Amino acid sequence: MQISAVSKKINEWSGSVLIAGILEGTIENQINLFKTIIKDTFLSKRFNDSKFEGKKSQKLSIELVEGKIQKIIFVGLGKAETLRIDDLRKATSIGARQVSGYERKLGIFFPWDAFDPSSAACAVGEAVRLSSIKDFRFKSESKEPTPIDEVELIGFLDTKTTNSAIAELHPICEGVKFARELVSAPPNFLTPYQMAKEAKKLATDYDLDLKILDKKECEQQGMGAYLAVAKGSDLEPNFIHLKYSPKTATNKVVLIGKGLTFDSGGYNLKVGASQIEKMKYDMGGSASVLGTARAIAELKPSNTEVHFIVAACENMINGSALHPGDIIKASNGKTIEVNNTDAEGRLTLADALVYACKLNPDAIVDLATLTGACVIALGDEIAGLWTDNDQLSEQLTKAADKAGEGIWRMPMQDSYKSGIKSSIADLQNTGPRQGGSITAALFLKEFVKESIPWAHIDIAGTCWTEKDRDINPKGATGYGVRMLVNWIKELSLNSH
Ligand code: BES
Ligand code: MN
Ligand code: ZN
Repeated sequence: MQISAVSKKINEWSGSVLIAGILEGTIENQINLFKTIIKDTFLSKRFNDSKFEGKKSQKLSIELVEGKIQKIIFVGLGKAETLRIDDLRKATSIGARQVSGYERKLGIFFPWDAFDPSSAACAVGEAVRLSSIKDFRFKSESKEPTPIDEVELIGFLDTKTTNSAIAELHPICEGVKFARELVSAPPNFLTPYQMAKEAKKLATDYDLDLKILDKKECEQQGMGAYLAVAKGSDLEPNFIHLKYSPKTATNKVVLIGKGLTFDSGGYNLKVGASQIEKMKYDMGGSASVLGTARAIAELKPSNTEVHFIVAACENMINGSALHPGDIIKASNGKTIEVNNTDAEGRLTLADALVYACKLNPDAIVDLATLTGACVIALGDEIAGLWTDNDQLSEQLTKAADKAGEGIWRMPMQDSYKSGIKSSIADLQNTGPRQGGSITAALFLKEFVKESIPWAHIDIAGTCWTEKDRDINPKGATGYGVRMLVNWIKELSLNSH
């Protein structure tokens, strides 16, 4: 899909489909714009008949029999005063879903002037791309038509600046696509070994440094918590460490992703409504991290060295699996009583965090499908953010807002630490049901050096959607990639 900003006016444009944003309230003025394409009396009538008022999420599709445009899809943007860039993303995805796979050239026309033109163009460009991605990898044959080849964003003054901003969309969208594909891949396909192979491919394609620790090397590192989870599976664990290094770096950050290629719960088996069949997405955090690696490796930001870490394994049951009640030891020497084998993500992350701290970074961010409690609290559009560091919180929130990815800071309530106290070991891995995602964050905190700014993002809700939602088609969302890319780009700019 080729996306470009063009200076053509709406009446000069030709193509298969035009998506046109309409502001609520001033419809009569806006109708004038389309005079040369559609008779204005006809358009007024159609708007009236279908009660199209330009309200957010309203849409009206009109097929044109003659002229240089075959179809116009009007989408409501709401009132001008409340218009945000994310409304453009949403409107774009509503419009893009009305486009059939047989239409080749799409035009998009929005009130760009209300925004910084490059930011608006990028938001719309990524929205059209990301909402039209389809995944046929696991179909034996694909009869579906392919998405649009050419998209023109109509009515830009400075097309040069805008188009150079648009050029960054390719690596970012490919990163999101890669993350989605990793998450959607079933657990018999995306195994811990396959994940390592994917990392290896990234390393070769983009010249990243790669280290993979096998089980033995993890043992040497004393990663007793991670290995305890992995040992219930016939598949060996793979500890993945990718590194992006620019020529000179003044800044070093580590991204860690939870990488459970399947979470059965272990002996605390996921039964009843716990949706065991969905648990291929329990590597959503690692997918975001590898997707970010894909984007960063191509964007090549200066000044910031970025490490990408995934302790990949499966949580399964066999004769040597963890018993509920086992006591294990993490690589920082802390002992953990496993009172629930289904709280496995934090065990794998514990050793990954200890490993990350040894790299002595300026910040660590982990992403994890960690708790069902976070989904109950925030739903599937908002991830939970835990950090003691206000600056990091602000940076990540800003990066997420810019991406249109929902995030909300949650309390690191230190007094709840009593919930994960064990009478026999240093810690137990599970606290009470109430505040379950807070005790999970507090558990992770036990494995991070206090001097290193660290944030934990719980994406249990946001990594997947059960229906087409905004720029996300049903399924894996690739949540987090765009936020992390924004964050790293901003760090690079500010550390010159
Ligand atoms: N991977 C799950 C969390 C999860 C649940 C993600 C639902 C997405 C949707 C995690 O490993 C888990 O099982 N957490 C338990 C923790 C509990 C045992 C303290 C949970 O949330 O139920
Ligand atoms: Mn679990
Ligand atoms: Zn899990």
